[in-house]
Amino acid sequence: MSKDKVQIFDTTLRDGEQVPGCKLDTTQKLIIAERLDHLGVDVIEAGFPISSPGDFRSVSEIAKLVRNATVCGLTRSVQKDIEVAAEAIKHAKRPRIHTGIGTSESHIKFKFNSTQDKILERAVNAVKLAKKYVEDVEFYAEDAGRTDNEYLARVCEAVIKAGATVLNIPDTTGYCLPEEYGAKMKYLKENVTGIDKAILSCHCHNDLGLATANSIAGVINGARQIECTINGIGERAGNTSLEEVVMILRQHPNLNLDTNIDSKLLYSTSQMVSQKMGMPVQPNKAIVGSNAFAHSSGIHQDGVIKNRETYEIIDPEDVGVNQSSIVLTARSGRAALAYRAKNVGYELTKLQLDEVYQKFLEFADRKKEINDEDIHEIVEQSAVDVERVA
Ligand code: KIV
Ligand code: ZN
Repeated sequence: MSKDKVQIFDTTLRDGEQVPGCKLDTTQKLIIAERLDHLGVDVIEAGFPISSPGDFRSVSEIAKLVRNATVCGLTRSVQKDIEVAAEAIKHAKRPRIHTGIGTSESHIKFKFNSTQDKILERAVNAVKLAKKYVEDVEFYAEDAGRTDNEYLARVCEAVIKAGATVLNIPDTTGYCLPEEYGAKMKYLKENVTGIDKAILSCHCHNDLGLATANSIAGVINGARQIECTINGIGERAGNTSLEEVVMILRQHPNLNLDTNIDSKLLYSTSQMVSQKMGMPVQPNKAIVGSNAFAHSSGIHQDGVIKNRETYEIIDPEDVGVNQSSIVLTARSGRAALAYRAKNVGYELTKLQLDEVYQKFLEFADRKKEINDEDIHEIVEQSAVDVERVA
């Protein structure tokens, strides 16, 4: 049975770039956009064109450059925003305008000092205006995570009637629990007339560390687009991480969902974005962190050396990492030491290994990590006569 496709909407260049200190110039954005297109994302949110002349230029250049993905520009439900975004994306092969407005009680009261009916009217007018420029219009109900489901359904129904092709249901503050976010998608699927004419989209923030879990709950309950960023960067605690959702869907074939992403490019793309943005990837980051395929405890190392699958659920090559690494620390056992010693040319017998291991522990208690140079020194200082074979 063929799998249902989940569209990947990458917002590294818009929500991701909102990280303080991560500002990119147009040339850097073009390089990243081209890489995202190769990676296989379906939509690139290139920026917020009204926000600055620089952002307008970047969106416009990306629109000209990108071959396959849809290129999207963000707007508020404001006439000028929509006109400027339409101008910025006009050369895209597949242009999309992403417009929207806050729908939660708090946004309506404090941001807009308005009413539900007036907000709904602004939403409809924004979609109708965007529709004059492009066929593909995505509507976001900002803070949908904290928006009452019944009102949210009314807004969704009205904007679909006005022509919205995609409905973005952002958990803007990262507040929802996965069950709650999933139930919201299910509610919309079941209660919005015309919902089959539009794609439901997950846009989750990571304030409670639930962005990925919420996005997966969303697609399990009928959403077919996930908005995410490389390395999960974005406002505050960040957005859903692209590499995580892609690999979750891939590693769980029973979900019967997949994406168009070439997963072998995930690691190099993560590195590239990290370098361009000057934003290091945390070592324990799932999928792309430097420790994601590193094993350091003796029990794990022994298992991985016997069979990788004992402690790895992903083949590192599937995400573009050459191989798993066996890290030597004071917690490592003989199996790991023998393995690493063999890699640098020493075939140790059992007796030799016992001797060398004692010296190794002395070194390892002094140093955090033992490298290849240290192994030579350890072998030389041990009371064994062993020849290097390579
Ligand atoms: O988090 C959010 O609600 C957003 C919207 C502007 C789509 O980024
Ligand atoms: Zn966001």
